[in-house]
Amino acid sequence: MAGAYGERFRPQYHFSPPRNWMNDPHGLIWRGGRYHLYYQYHPHSCRWGPMHWGHAVSEDLLHWRHLPIALWPDEIGTIFTGDVVAAETGAPPLPATGELAAVYSYDDQSVGLAASVDGGCRWRKYAGNPVIASPGGNFRDPKVRWHPESERWLMAIAQEQSVQFYQSADLREWRRCGEFRAPTAGDDPWEVPDFFPIGAGEERRWVLLVSVPNAPAGGGGVRYFIGHCDGAQFHSEIGPETECWLDYGPDNYAGSTWKYLPGGHRVYIGWLNNWRYAEALPTVGWRGALTIPRELRLEHTAAGPRLLQQPIAELHSLRGEAISLPAQTIAPGANPLANRRMRCGEISLVIEARAADSISLSLFNGDTGGAEICYNCQRQELCLARAPSASLPIHEEYAVAVNAPLPLRGGKLSLRILLDHSSVEVFADGGRAVMSARVFPEASADGLSLCATGGAAWLASGALWPLQSTWRGVER
Ligand code: FRU
Repeated sequence: MAGAYGERFRPQYHFSPPRNWMNDPHGLIWRGGRYHLYYQYHPHSCRWGPMHWGHAVSEDLLHWRHLPIALWPDEIGTIFTGDVVAAETGAPPLPATGELAAVYSYDDQSVGLAASVDGGCRWRKYAGNPVIASPGGNFRDPKVRWHPESERWLMAIAQEQSVQFYQSADLREWRRCGEFRAPTAGDDPWEVPDFFPIGAGEERRWVLLVSVPNAPAGGGGVRYFIGHCDGAQFHSEIGPETECWLDYGPDNYAGSTWKYLPGGHRVYIGWLNNWRYAEALPTVGWRGALTIPRELRLEHTAAGPRLLQQPIAELHSLRGEAISLPAQTIAPGANPLANRRMRCGEISLVIEARAADSISLSLFNGDTGGAEICYNCQRQELCLARAPSASLPIHEEYAVAVNAPLPLRGGKLSLRILLDHSSVEVFADGGRAVMSARVFPEASADGLSLCATGGAAWLASGALWPLQSTWRGVER
């Protein structure tokens, strides 16, 4: 595809910046029928640098319109990750009669405040900034929610390897009121917390997300805790011995959820990247992309509450004509996908493992640079492996194989996979295990293969859909 968003490796239905560098998505709100997305943006380079807030809006979380930069660096510093809140029923009016307030980190690790009176496009910074002075060290990425029971704004902010909680009546004066810690490997600081209620009635819980170093795939990942929030503190029901990860792939970091969605939905989006090699990705003129937005749901299991993730339902609207695969035996050596091709689309498979030792699906088959998803029936583990790309050396830590525990339910492996030119996202077993990764296949690599080893498996159902681009005609 020529023109805007037609460059090599450019995702066609995922968000990526018009040009130059992006990292964390943040300030995610739904307002006046539009989803707002702000993000860490360097408008002058494809490498991380002085941070601004990029801004885009959408009516369906898939077709985005780029808007001018929302927040610029000022005399205090550059603008790191933060949050946006709207005037709330029962809450005192927002500062500067704004209908929206942004609460964000400066690069010096102090916290700033800004108000918007035009629905989130233009912002006026608060004259009394910073509202929280830097305590020294790592202290950043505030998330703010109105807590009706305590009639206070509650802020979660990452500090070294903890999340600190602050309360405020007016978003200007903040008082520290609690902290949350859990064992983590490594010395790097926690970043980008998010906290929100999920579920209804007796089953309602609070979730705390935090981006932490040393995730199972190496580098950073998003860990979650589920429990209760009393307006000053978060208490986890998941014990310190259990690590729950939103994603077992290498590329899902610094994500957050949208606020104020109708119908109590919780939709998450993450940065489809990993700081270990983020600046080495082989794209030209733009760098960085986001995961597909994902609906989060709570499931109460025998082991305790857990999060499930599925791509948002709106994704169905991008599907072209389905190719259905007939139910069939997958004998060792056979490939039911032999004549199928895909670079931008969706695959859904339900496979009974039966006599197979392993079941593998290769994606972006070509000379180099593709990926393989492999289920090991004995170990009950899903593995995602990225092949190194001979012509595009990326980084020594890029080409890794990563695993997710995946016990088969009813002997069935169910996979939903999204491919978008330079990404793979796997939602296994209804979103109980998720893996996300960037991949950089050769331009012509579009083959697929599905194989069983050790014995035959049974393909109970399967379908492939091409997905339409959401970026045609977008101005940059
Ligand atoms: C996470 C992060 C945040 C910080 C921002 C800077 O990726 O390091 O902690 O606010 O990126 O761009």
